[in-house]
Formats: sequence, structure tokens, C-alpha cells
Amino acid sequence: MCGIIGYTGKQEVKEILLDALEALEYRGYDSAGIAVSDSAKRDVEIFKCAGRVSDLRKVCAQEEIHAKCGIGHTRWATHGGVSDANAHPHKVGRVTVVHNGIIENYKELAAEYHLSGQLQSETDSEVAAALLNALYESDPKEAVYKAVARLEGTFALVILFEDVPETIFSIRNVSPIVATQSEEGCMLASDVTALCRFTNRYFVVPEYCLLELHADSLRMQDMEGNVVEPEYMEVNWGLNSSDKGGYPFYMEKEIMEQPKAIQNTVENHIQNGMPDFTEEGIPDSLFQECERVCVVACGTAMHAGLIGQALIKSILNMHIDVELASEYMYTDPVVDEKTLVIAISQSGETIDTLEALKYARRQGARSLAIINVKGSSIARESEFVLYTDAGPEMAVASTKAYTTQLALIYLIVAKMAQVRGVWNEAQVKEYIAELLRVPAAIEQVLERRREIHLIAKNILEAKDLFMIGRGLDYSLLLEGSLKLKEVSYIHSEAYASGELKHGPIALITNHTPVVAVVTQSRLMQKEISNIKEVQSRGARVILFIKEALLQELKQEIEIFTLPDLKDEFMVIPASVALQLMAYYVSSDKGFDVDKPRNLAKVVTVE
Ligand code: F6R
Repeated sequence: MCGIIGYTGKQEVKEILLDALEALEYRGYDSAGIAVSDSAKRDVEIFKCAGRVSDLRKVCAQEEIHAKCGIGHTRWATHGGVSDANAHPHKVGRVTVVHNGIIENYKELAAEYHLSGQLQSETDSEVAAALLNALYESDPKEAVYKAVARLEGTFALVILFEDVPETIFSIRNVSPIVATQSEEGCMLASDVTALCRFTNRYFVVPEYCLLELHADSLRMQDMEGNVVEPEYMEVNWGLNSSDKGGYPFYMEKEIMEQPKAIQNTVENHIQNGMPDFTEEGIPDSLFQECERVCVVACGTAMHAGLIGQALIKSILNMHIDVELASEYMYTDPVVDEKTLVIAISQSGETIDTLEALKYARRQGARSLAIINVKGSSIARESEFVLYTDAGPEMAVASTKAYTTQLALIYLIVAKMAQVRGVWNEAQVKEYIAELLRVPAAIEQVLERRREIHLIAKNILEAKDLFMIGRGLDYSLLLEGSLKLKEVSYIHSEAYASGELKHGPIALITNHTPVVAVVTQSRLMQKEISNIKEVQSRGARVILFIKEALLQELKQEIEIFTLPDLKDEFMVIPASVALQLMAYYVSSDKGFDVDKPRNLAKVVTVE
């Protein structure tokens, strides 16, 4: 959470910082600020405000800002409300800081170093600035080392010292920082999307390594002062892949990108029609030797895990748990060296997923991560990694990351069925061939998006909405319902249809919208009975149904037919239809679809 940027180089820094903050805004959008180091004045000036980066632009437009070095921050509030004073950067004495993370012992430090009188905000971050200032005599690095030795919690700190012009210092624990050097100068950021416009080469700053950026050089050293060489990697996202590409919102663009994203993800992991993970160095034994599987993930990524659970149970007849990563360590999980833990995360930075993975590895579990962002913390923590080829996902509500995670899950299931001798080669190939049909099926849904828009118009006024389905349909509806609530603010609940009678049906009244999904042949008759139950209590049913299953259910129901695939693959086109519905509800209501209230894209606090 919180976006951080720093630049020192040949160019004027103001626009670089503001543009980068806009690219990082999905990490938090409560307030924003920049600090620039003016070598002529030997001064650091701060411009900040509560609100969006667009508000900060207005603040900056009124000022003469000429500098070639600066840092910036976009905030997701943790300690202290949303206010100008709590916005970063924080300056105390000669030290200016932006921070991502949580300093857990900030109260103790403020008391021990008598810092309270110098603080103007309610943030833990300002205590870090005050501590650095208290410890700063003449050597910035010494001050950073001393301060960091006292900090408890997670932090990515980016620091300007007023009397060390045009130099940026940074150090981190858990919270990410990536950096790069190009012709134009040196940059750091909390994630690579902000650097993409300059270069596709970057490195992850290792924990507790002090990074020092100058206009024409950068240097890293560990806590003992030993030089650490950056390990550069490349991101294959185009320099413009984080643009909106003509769409009004990233969410729409990202929904539309799904056929290509899934095709890339699948094609990069098959060889002669068979799943192939040799490029990632994943041995067959990883899948052969495990006795149980456990998925750890949060939110949408956890919902992808639920689809994996259904497939692994039914195809491989194996024990698989899907755990909310935030609960995992506290629920005495059954995990040992025979467990394969699969961590799923778009960002690769979700702290709960990271901690759950670390916990499982400490118990001896083998591990595989499904990640979208190269070199992210979870990717580095996991024994093996499979990357989704989704490209940057900028909208806070996840769409293409989810469906590409599903694509990799289908491939993993096929690989496991192959190496565990459940399927012969022909069966695996048949399954992969059907997976390759998914992008075309998505295209068909996208082409008919106007129909979904009309459906969306009919639920704009709903306060409560229910989604019902069975089996895989229930699992995909959990995600469909999350999507709708996060972008439209409609209270939406997904229920397993059979469970309705055990309580929730009490909430169905005249005209309550109920979205039903029917894609599983063996469950269809039961699903239809459940739909009739809610209809007879006055519900207004909107049905998304696999075309081949469409039967007598015609009257009084709004129907969207989904293109036919084998049942287990229907999850993806059905999910895309529900994403579109959520998107249209949100955009028709005039909301900022990409930045729903209270949310942030990367959740780095527990
Ligand atoms: C919802 C959404 C979140 C994320 C969750 C995990 O649209 O995006 O529920 O899925 O915060 O994030 P990652 O996948 O980055 O670990």
C-alpha cells in the first residue's frame, strides 16, 4: 500500500514525480505529496494535500518548482486520518521522508527520543523522520543505519537530507522498493509500473540494503557497509502498456485484454499440446510427491484458488485446502513436507499471502507461486514461480489477473494429472485443446457486451443483490459478487443455491435482484429448482446460462447465454460476463471505477 517514487537526474523532476504518482495511485489515493531537493537553495520543499494526484497537480501548478531531484508519495491511510498534515512527505529538521509500511514501535520511539514536540501529524511515518533527524549528525548513512536498527515493523523509507542535495537514500524491510538507472538519471519506486515509462530494466532493492541514488550513479550497501551489486531483471510489459488505450477506465481495458492475456499465458506454458514448465525449472517431482495441496491467497486470488480446489478434488481425487492467507497461521494448519503450498497473488506483495507462504515453508512445505509481477516479494520467497502473462493490471478491481491465474491453474491440474498417471497423453492434450478454446469464448462474450450493459442498467438502483449457483458456479459467483460490491457499492452476496433455504431466502422480497449462473450440466436441474424457489418469492432473476443448457427457462427471466465450452472451463466466460456487469453498473453510476473508495491495489499491511 502507498505508492513511492524518487528521481534524481538530468530532467526537471516535478512532472516525472506527478506522472509516476498517477501510475502508482492504485496503491492508495487518500492523499499525495512531493518533496524536491533544490541544490541552489540547499533546501527541500514540500507540496502535499489530501485527495488525489489530480489535486496535488493543482497545488503544484500554483508554484514555481525547479529541481532535478525529488521524492513523492500517494497514501492509503493507516495511522492518522486523511488530512493535509498526515499526507507524506514529512519533514523534521534536516530530514524529509516518505514511507510505506507500519512502524509498530512509533509511540515508544517518540517517547524515548522526546520527539512529540516536533511532530505535526498523527502518522507513524513522521516519527521515523524525526528519529532520523535526531540521529543525524553529519553522515546520512550512519543516521539511517542507527534509525533502522530501532524500527520495528515493515517499512520502505525514502529519504532526503537537506544538506546532501540531489541525493536520495532508501532502505526497506518487507515493503517493496525497486530501482533503476537510465540515461536520464536514477529512479526508485514501490513498483515497476512507475518505472516502465523510462526503462524495462529494474532491480529489487534487497531488504536492509541502503540504496543511494545520484544523478549519474547508484550504489547499494548492506548493514555492514559491504557493496551489494544490483541484480537487474527485465519486465516484458511495453512502455505504454500501462496506458488506458482509449478506454475510459483501466477496468474496461483490462476486461477486454483477457483473450490475449490468457492466450499468452497458456501458449507460454505448453509444448506440443502438453503443459510445460521446464523454462521455470519446475520438476515433475513437485507435483508427483505431494500428498496434499494448500492454496494461500487473499480476495480475488483466493477465489481463483477455489476453482483450483474443485478441479483438483474432482480430477485428481486429492486433498486440497484453500486458506484465507490472513487466517492461515492462526488456525493451526495441517502442513508438512508432503504439502505443496500454492501462493496466488497478482502483485506478489500481499503481506498476508507472503507471511502464510513463509510460515508454510518453515514447516517444510514445498512451494509454488502464481504471480503477475516479476521479482515481487512472494515470487522471491517461493521455491518455484509461474508468472501470469497479464501485463500490468492498473484497475484496483482485479479482472485479467484472475482469469490468467485460472489459466495457470488449469495447466497445473493438467500437469498433475499427467505426472501422477491420472490421465494419459491423449486426455491431457484434449484438456489443453479445450483450454485453448477459452480466448475465443471470451471474445464472444465481449462482442455481446451491450447486452450485459442492458442487464446492468436494470440493477443500478438495487441496494441488495444475491448471486446463486452450485459447484463451480458458486465458486465463480463469489468472485462475481466481490467484483460487483467493490466497484458498484451494491451489497451483494453469493450463496450456494442449496444453502438458500437454510436462512438467506428470508431476505428475498419482491423485485430483489438475484443473479443465477448455470453452467454445470450435472447440477442444472437442481439449480433450476433453486431459481424457481426465489422466483416464487418475488425475486427478479438474471440468468447467465451455458447455451447448451438453455431449456424451458424463458419467461420472466433476463437471460444471457454463455458460449459453450466443456463444463469445467465455463468459469472463465461466465466470470468475464460478471466482470462486465459490475463494470457497467459502476460506470453508469458515475463512480471512479478504477479507484473504488477505501481500497488499494497492493495490500502490504496485515
Ligand atoms: C479484488 C482484488 C483483491 C486482490 C487481493 C489480493 O478485485 O483485487 O481482492 O485479489 O487484495 O491481491 P494480490 O492478488 O495482489 O495478492
